[in-house]
Amino acid sequence: MKESILVLDFGGQYNQLIARRVRENNVYAEILPYTTPIEQIKQKNYKGIIFTGGPNSVYDMSSPHYPKEILSLGVPILGICYGCQLMAWMAGGAVETAPVSEYGKIELKIKKESILFDGVDDKSTVWMSHTDFISRVPDGFEVTALTYDCPCAAMENRERKLYAVQFHPEVTHTAFGKEMLKNFIFGVCGCKGDWVMDSFIDETVNSLKEKIGDKQVILGLSGGVDSSVAAGLLSRAVGKQLTCVFVDQGLMRKDEGDFVEQTFTKLFDMDFVRVNCGDVFLEKLKGVTDPEAKRKIISEEFYKVFWDEIKSRAKGDAFFAQGTIYPDRIESGKGATDGESQTSVIKTHHNMGKIPDDVEFLGVIEPLGDLFKDEVRKVGEKLGIPKELVWRQPFPGPGLGVRIIGEITKEKIEILQNADFVLRDEMAKNGYEKNLSQFFCVFTGSKAVGVMGDHRTYENVIAIRAVTTDDFMTADWARIPFDILAKVSNRITNEVAGVNRIVYDITSKPPGTVEWE
Ligand code: XMP
Repeated sequence: MKESILVLDFGGQYNQLIARRVRENNVYAEILPYTTPIEQIKQKNYKGIIFTGGPNSVYDMSSPHYPKEILSLGVPILGICYGCQLMAWMAGGAVETAPVSEYGKIELKIKKESILFDGVDDKSTVWMSHTDFISRVPDGFEVTALTYDCPCAAMENRERKLYAVQFHPEVTHTAFGKEMLKNFIFGVCGCKGDWVMDSFIDETVNSLKEKIGDKQVILGLSGGVDSSVAAGLLSRAVGKQLTCVFVDQGLMRKDEGDFVEQTFTKLFDMDFVRVNCGDVFLEKLKGVTDPEAKRKIISEEFYKVFWDEIKSRAKGDAFFAQGTIYPDRIESGKGATDGESQTSVIKTHHNMGKIPDDVEFLGVIEPLGDLFKDEVRKVGEKLGIPKELVWRQPFPGPGLGVRIIGEITKEKIEILQNADFVLRDEMAKNGYEKNLSQFFCVFTGSKAVGVMGDHRTYENVIAIRAVTTDDFMTADWARIPFDILAKVSNRITNEVAGVNRIVYDITSKPPGTVEWE
């Protein structure tokens, strides 16, 4: 059995980051909400448990708590921020509102030698974010570090293998955060660190073979990173028993449908089905200009075509596979105490959606269900999937449909594809892609007057959109050097018929969104 660490989520914003930090040490980590029954945790033989931070106060009894028994399982525990205070509270200490709250970079002083601080300077910077503090350390615990305003910035009960830090070791602002987590994982929990992508591929391929046996498996392939890597793994496991269904709605980037088809038919052993339905989509979208209406039509039509194709192949004796990854599956501890949160719909994103009731499968297979995006990319590279696919920038489900303002026509799609191709080509030539999270062209729907030779022109305005972001929830417009923009503008106006003006989008998110529609 692979060794693993449990990240018990109390609603903190860094829960996924903690799990990723653990995995960077080649130790598998999984996140479970604090509502997970203790019996379930006992069965899993975790090498260690990490309590995450959270926005609440432990002395407020409606905030997330956990049965005290967890401290006595003999499994090492590291409490972080709220998790630190929770450990203190559960072990009989006291937590109160701090006379001075700490936020941001703070100097930490080590007070007492601790395995957690092996290789850590006596004074170092840590990231703090708390308004409560441990005012009385529980019996049997010792304070191992403090700050000017926080008398207990770290505490431990070495005998019981219980450790806690008020600061956030998982964020990069904590200078020795990685060392501290490493010390917990290896020094305290005694992990070996043998969870690597090679073994992941072998283990997954074996278990897929076992599960699928001689049955068929059908995968919806979008050409995005996740479904491509899932296809690669499944193909390695069961070859021709895999059918990949690729719906080309005619709204992909220039030549992209052909590229996806060639990649998968040449590189992998599988049955590849490409459903070309661009004309049907265009017919449905005729005269439609409202962004949400367009999204709705594209999404509904996509599912209809996709599931019709699947239904014609799956007769109840095939598995259905999809490229779901770990962050899509995590049931967060967040919000569990907030009641129903009503977030307003900015845009209806469409992804694989729900399996319709009238399709029957032997089961659903999600070979990447335990991986984060960066791990999926590593697996993809190891499987030999081309870099263009593995490092592909995000592409919205509705494709160019949300990058053409107003009615979508064949002509507009072509102009946009050609302009976007030039942008991508120029970025690749300059090696500037790596500085950007996402970049593309937008067909603005505006026309402008221009001059070409001695003639007046009245042609389309194309916008360049380029952003940098960590999570796409917020984004900054990218400061692409003017020289590169000049080259792109020059090339598009020269090479793409029907375009005579280029504008650069200098809007961040918020108030803008990444896509224009
Ligand atoms: P917005 O425009 O909402 O985009 O700021 C944020 C990120 O999401 C992508 N995006 C989508 N992805 N289905 C998707 O899978 C969609 O319907 C969709 N709409 C936008 C967008 O490209 C950006 O990366």
